[in-house]
Amino acid sequence: MRETVFLMLMALHLLAATTWVGGVLFFMFAVVPAARAAPSAGIPDALGRAFRPVAYGALGTLIVTGPLLLLVQGIGPRTIIRARFWVSAFGVTLAVKAGLVALVLMLTVWHDAILGPRAQRSRATRIVGRAIGLLSVAILLAGLLLAQGL
Ligand code: HEM
Repeated sequence: MRETVFLMLMALHLLAATTWVGGVLFFMFAVVPAARAAPSAGIPDALGRAFRPVAYGALGTLIVTGPLLLLVQGIGPRTIIRARFWVSAFGVTLAVKAGLVALVLMLTVWHDAILGPRAQRSRATRIVGRAIGLLSVAILLAGLLLAQGL
């Protein structure tokens, strides 16, 4: 039973991870360069608006299924309040991963709600967008380490 729940959560987590990271990279490497090559088409904004609910849904799914994956493996509140947990390889990777997820969440809100709607997109918009892409790939790699117990 526990294994079935774990597999179902992992499937959801992986589906959401591919959706989020794939979407961010597609914007970085396809939509943004295309918009620069053919400006004023209005397509990038429309794409952004259309993809946003999917991307936020994926991010939300990751934030919910991540802690559930820990719980199913017996890593609950009683484990994570122990200092010993956070000095293990798994604990350090988890702390780094959770910190990066929080950072990506903040940068995404900043990018979409504050920088993005401005008519005159700044260099900051591009830099923050790239940082979200880079950090998302780092989170994915941290996930690989966690799955190895590291
Ligand atoms: C942008 C957000 C996230 C991405 C892209 C992501 C990505 C991934 C990936 C790709 C894996 C699977 C690696 C594999 O099967 O080889 C994974 C595993 C895992 N993730 Fe995430 N993750 C995210 C957020 C979170 C959060 C917020 C948590 C919990 C705080 C979390 C906890 C875990 C755990 C515990 C595993 C390993 C499960 C196991 O023991 O096998 N993840 N993650």
